[in-house]
Amino acid sequence: MAESGNEAFVTLATNDTYVLGSLVLAESLRRVGTQKKLVVMVTNEISETLKHNLHTVFDDVHVVDLLSSEDFKNLQLLGRPDLHVTFTKLHCWNLTQYSKCVFLDADTLVIQNVDELFDKEEFSAAPDPGWPDCFNSGVFVFKPNVDTYKSLLQFAATEGTFDGGDQGLLNRYFNDWPTKDIKTHLPFVYNVVSQAFYSYLPAFKQFKQNVKIVHFIGAVKPWQHPYNYASGVVTPLPDSGHDAEFLQHWWNIFIDSVQPTLNPAAHTDSPQCLKSEPPTEGLIGQLASLGVDNPVDRSAMDSFHRRMAWEQGQIDYMGEDRFENIQRKLDDAKMKKNNK
Ligand code: UDP
Ligand code: GLC
Ligand code: MN
Repeated sequence: MAESGNEAFVTLATNDTYVLGSLVLAESLRRVGTQKKLVVMVTNEISETLKHNLHTVFDDVHVVDLLSSEDFKNLQLLGRPDLHVTFTKLHCWNLTQYSKCVFLDADTLVIQNVDELFDKEEFSAAPDPGWPDCFNSGVFVFKPNVDTYKSLLQFAATEGTFDGGDQGLLNRYFNDWPTKDIKTHLPFVYNVVSQAFYSYLPAFKQFKQNVKIVHFIGAVKPWQHPYNYASGVVTPLPDSGHDAEFLQHWWNIFIDSVQPTLNPAAHTDSPQCLKSEPPTEGLIGQLASLGVDNPVDRSAMDSFHRRMAWEQGQIDYMGEDRFENIQRKLDDAKMKKNNK
């Protein structure tokens, strides 16, 4: 068997919010006692302070160029225009200093040690419950090789991707995966995507304790959920599809090990956070300032989460979102406009 020092878990973050995910993921891997190296690929879009945070938990922070599929037509079908950047994942085949790697999306969370995945060969992945003859590309075993990288880019140029992201490309490229060799099929417990909780609830109840990796797929990620700092409890948003217990696990790690290391000053001062739109841009600063001693930032955080809940159709008609408050906000906005 290859030496462990030469094997790595690899993830990707092209912006600061996905950095949060990658920090929790890395911490989850450390907590289950992985013996493998931890590598994160980032683009130059991420802030310098968060890059520093990454260095404290990852063995290797690897800067790569952003790759876009530019296929917004297929991404529209998927309902996730933001995922054009997932082509950046392909850079993982260039990490030839490692003999074998396991790629993990930044929205995954490791619940039990999964170092045995390195006994699998390229290309191993778990089925996607949306279409089980396709694999989900949030967790896969691969062997870095520059020729594979070049061949994937070439293939992308000629064949394209059917979902606009890396999953539609990789499933076309490794197209014998559904039938060729069952050994390359990872059991579902290595990539339990949220939809499964609702599509087969009895199985989820039966096998939940076997779950090794949770994958918070979809547009709403754990870090966008309302978290009450005083009680230490996260509230699952309706339709996010995420399981309350796994979400809580994510937040427990975040609050214990990641949030205390975030630098509020760096984030409130950065030009990126001076802009209030889109809402996630201020999120890091608000999360960094989260705490009982910080009522001002606490309320900023609350207002962010209220807005998220509102957008999810969860409206607090009797409380903060009651008619008088909405009317007051509309009046304020009108006054500001008139004073311009
Ligand atoms: N990703 C990123 N920046 C983005 C979008 C995605 O770095 O703006 C990376 C990140 O590692 C993420 C992965 O690409 O986990 C796939 O995207 P996502 O997990 O959001 O897709 P889903 O699993 O929800 O389909
Ligand atoms: C999927 C996967 C994700 C991938 C995306 C785009 O839903 O979970 O890893 O990046 O599709 O192809
Ligand atoms: Mn994902």
